[in-house]
Amino acid sequence: MWSASLAAGAWYGRGVRRLCWIAAALSACGPPGPKVPVTSALTAGEGWHRRVAIYELSVRSYQDSDGDGIGDLRGLIQRLDHLAELGVGAIWLMPMFPSPLKDSGYDVADYLGVHPDYGTLEDFERLLGEAHRRGLKVMLDLVVNHTSTEHEWFQSSRASRTGEKADWYVWSDGPGPGCEESNVIFGEERWTFDPARGQYYFHQFFSSQPDLNYRSPELAEAVLGVARRWLELGVDGFRLDVPHQYVENWPKCWHQPQTLAFHQRLREEVDKAYDRVLLGEVCCGREEVLRYAGSDRLQLVFYFVGMHATWSAVKWGDASKLAEHLRFAVQNTPPGGLHANTLGNHDIFRTPTTMAAEASGLKLAATLQMTAPGAPVIYYGEEIGMRDGATWAVDIRDYARTPMQWDDTPSAGFTTGTPWLALSEGTAALNVRVQAGREGSLLSHYKRLLALRNRSLALQEGAYEPLATQSSSLVFWRRHPAGDRLVALHFGASGTIAVRAEVPEGWSALVDELSGEEVGEVRGAVWTATQPARAGWVLKPR
Ligand code: GLC
Ligand code: MG
Repeated sequence: MWSASLAAGAWYGRGVRRLCWIAAALSACGPPGPKVPVTSALTAGEGWHRRVAIYELSVRSYQDSDGDGIGDLRGLIQRLDHLAELGVGAIWLMPMFPSPLKDSGYDVADYLGVHPDYGTLEDFERLLGEAHRRGLKVMLDLVVNHTSTEHEWFQSSRASRTGEKADWYVWSDGPGPGCEESNVIFGEERWTFDPARGQYYFHQFFSSQPDLNYRSPELAEAVLGVARRWLELGVDGFRLDVPHQYVENWPKCWHQPQTLAFHQRLREEVDKAYDRVLLGEVCCGREEVLRYAGSDRLQLVFYFVGMHATWSAVKWGDASKLAEHLRFAVQNTPPGGLHANTLGNHDIFRTPTTMAAEASGLKLAATLQMTAPGAPVIYYGEEIGMRDGATWAVDIRDYARTPMQWDDTPSAGFTTGTPWLALSEGTAALNVRVQAGREGSLLSHYKRLLALRNRSLALQEGAYEPLATQSSSLVFWRRHPAGDRLVALHFGASGTIAVRAEVPEGWSALVDELSGEEVGEVRGAVWTATQPARAGWVLKPR
């Protein structure tokens, strides 16, 4: 388990270099859908992504509706009420397109369809309608650095060196140059011989995931066409898979200027529809990552350095790195952009493995996630403290992709059949039904936090003003004309800490909105308190 944990930690954490490209065809887009009303672009401070928490989920593992042991879109529809009650404002579906599933769907065989395991396009349209009816936005995973070798584009590209799609992938007579950036999990091999075409094709991931060639104007257009098609259907945005890897200038395969130029085109396309959002999975250095955010590129970028710093703050009780990364993001994100705060995702081990086994640590991390500047992105099951599984069907990342735990029955309410992947341990206590009925559970904490965030403009978009503190503590203001909030988080696992802040006039007593209790005391416009280990307070004046 330890070496596995290292491998997954390395996935983002230690410069494990991965790559990606793009593709999708206009010609394959099918009949045009209903036209979306085109309105003027939103100004930088607007957009639904600035208000809500996003929830990432695997359709395959969320809820099965037909007893085949595989989650599906109809099952997900049955669980939308859980999401609305939890208080998230958007869901991001991991790829649910037709795929041979050699990379769990990140190897797409048809960008415009739905995998038969999960249902049909009609089911998806129903999901969209049902989600919207509950005020939930829906984001799809746009995986356009590469396709599956089974995609029609690749089949056609490999079939002829002179055909229409001949240059939609990257071909070479011999193995071409490698990339500076390494790609541990996917192997170091970058060129694979294709007997049909008699040439080698380039890939930054598995050899079953050929990279798309953005130097082909037709290919680039086709990818824009894929985005347009889903936007017309009413999808609210996309999570972009490895968006820093689209164009290579070997040996440099990441962060190339042509890649950023494409994102500007994609954003223009997205802005033709009203209030749609791009969220980029950009790796790794914080300067590089933040460069992808802004009013003429992606609205949101994951900020994985902040995630790692949160893990160590909770694990070791030292929040100094976290404080520094938050300050950096706030000061350096270009206007119109925002960083996204995560605790985990489908590529790494779950929070009880990476961060804290006890609920107190998980609660504190959630309090940080929902109060710090940036957009919270929750990974399914985090709200109940789900643990890693112990088996995999595709690769070790399946540890974090086990079926959602709804109740304490043998298949945890996920299916009436045999789950496609064994459940993780601890379902008796780690499930939605048990925790929903228990005051003080992790799930109740998430609900309270999200409700708080949803009604507080200060927590959503207030100016961030950190105070100097000891390294085990993080204290910051979120200032907003609608009312300031003071947040105090103590990461130490034992002992107490003294906290202090100058407070505005009228703040004669401070109440923690999470517990409803008054904490500390105010004297001469200075508030002081003694904060217990792993406590997190969201304070307002009484
Ligand atoms: C991204 C995805 C990962 C996938 C890879 C290739 O990093 O998060 O799951 O394997 O890209 O598409
Ligand atoms: Mg099913």
